[in-house]
Amino acid sequence: MQIHPTIDGLRAALDPLRAQGARIALVPTMGNLHEGHASLMRQAGTLADVVVASVFVNRLQFAPHEDFDRYPRTLDADCARMQAAGVSHVFAPSEGELYPQPQTLRVVPDPMLADLLEGAFRPGFFTGVATVVAKLFNIVQPQVAVFGKKDYQQLMVIRQLVRQMALPIEIVGGETLRADDGLALSSRNGYLSAAERAQSVQLYQALSAARDALRTGDREFARIEHDALSFLEARGWSPQYVAVRRQADLQSPSAHESSLVIVAAALLGTTRLIDNLEV
Ligand code: PAF
Repeated sequence: MQIHPTIDGLRAALDPLRAQGARIALVPTMGNLHEGHASLMRQAGTLADVVVASVFVNRLQFAPHEDFDRYPRTLDADCARMQAAGVSHVFAPSEGELYPQPQTLRVVPDPMLADLLEGAFRPGFFTGVATVVAKLFNIVQPQVAVFGKKDYQQLMVIRQLVRQMALPIEIVGGETLRADDGLALSSRNGYLSAAERAQSVQLYQALSAARDALRTGDREFARIEHDALSFLEARGWSPQYVAVRRQADLQSPSAHESSLVIVAAALLGTTRLIDNLEV
């Protein structure tokens, strides 16, 4: 596995492979990798000849009060995990390499999608994500890129980016991996204390109850959302949203619609967790 801190170095390694007709997959990450990332990388390996993973904590997608400074930088452990998952090239640029000039040009996703839900609680987040992902796509020029479905709205923003900018990249969603108790794997789970970790499964429980209700044909979406919010609040969480939405565009569904997703974000102590379940 080769580790490339520079754009030129990565391109010099990938250009000959591309010239030989190799299909290249990209898995973008911010590092601090867990088994969920590894499964995306393994999935990428089934879709391409060469798997490139990027590791870059992208300042543009963090608000000033968020956890950019304390986000764990664990490149050595990440490299061991990526090698085991079949990654052959790691792109791990410094901030000065990826943003040698202030990144004043931004990719602003459609507010109809990007200002909802996560975007409402994290203004500018999806602009930061779309900007860095567009840049990574230009640098790596993959034929396929894999993103986790845990970041459901992010995956939709990326799909829209590729579609509307006519980028020749197939976007694949990887299933969410869960701990034995159901907690979705996330880098931010590492912020939880032992007591919070024991409690954190309640987010999945709230979503599961909502999914069960929808599966039985219950279409009182507002009450289902309210029940989930109350469940979390009663247990000391500060939920930001629990919403039943259409899978197609994350808008509110009408009662007869199928293909729904329940999306949620909630704070447990100071840790913000997100999760979703498709129905
Ligand atoms: O999901 C993430 O880890 C990040 O948002 C991404 C896609 C790597 C962009 O920085």
